[in-house]
Amino acid sequence: MTESLRVGVIGTGYLGTTHAAGMTEMGHQVVGLDVDAEKVAQLSAGQVPFFEPGLPEMLARGLSSGRLRFTTSFADVAASADITSSASGRRNRSATTPPTCASWTPRLVLLPPN
Ligand SMILES: NC(=O)c1ccc[n+]([C@@H]2O[C@H](COP(=O)([O-])OP(=O)(O)OC[C@H]3O[C@@H](n4cnc5c(N)ncnc54)[C@H](O)[C@@H]3O)[C@@H](O)[C@H]2O)c1
Repeated sequence: MTESLRVGVIGTGYLGTTHAAGMTEMGHQVVGLDVDAEKVAQLSAGQVPFFEPGLPEMLARGLSSGRLRFTTSFADVAASADITSSASGRRNRSATTPPTCASWTPRLVLLPPN
């Protein structure tokens, strides 16, 4: 890897949490956002609220590295990320940005296949 990227992941469910932890493992700076404050608190405390072998260990490594954190603030992600992945499940196929981020234009948005 030649460059550490600043990555935002919108929606930290099964897909988003796994993606966020994986990107952190690769050396990137990652902030995960969810509208569910309880989920954000759980993940910030290193607790994975679903079963995925190896993910709790990856999450712990990411949190302790200081390169992975979680937030409920879109303003935080807007200030902290150049590339944004949408994993919220509220995809608008005609949009180029997540629907909840109308006032913010990240450099690149990645959308999962639905
Ligand atoms: N899980 C998979 O293997 C998989 C594979 C391919 C595609 N996808 C797609 O990826 C997306 C996410 O899947 P998942 O399995 O992680 O779902 P999930 O339900 O586990 O997670 C979705 C998360 O998004 C959050 N969320 C909802 N609305 C939001 C918003 N407006 N802003 C921020 N966060 C919001 C929810 O609170 C939840 O934590 C879906 O569109 C799904 O179809 C998932």
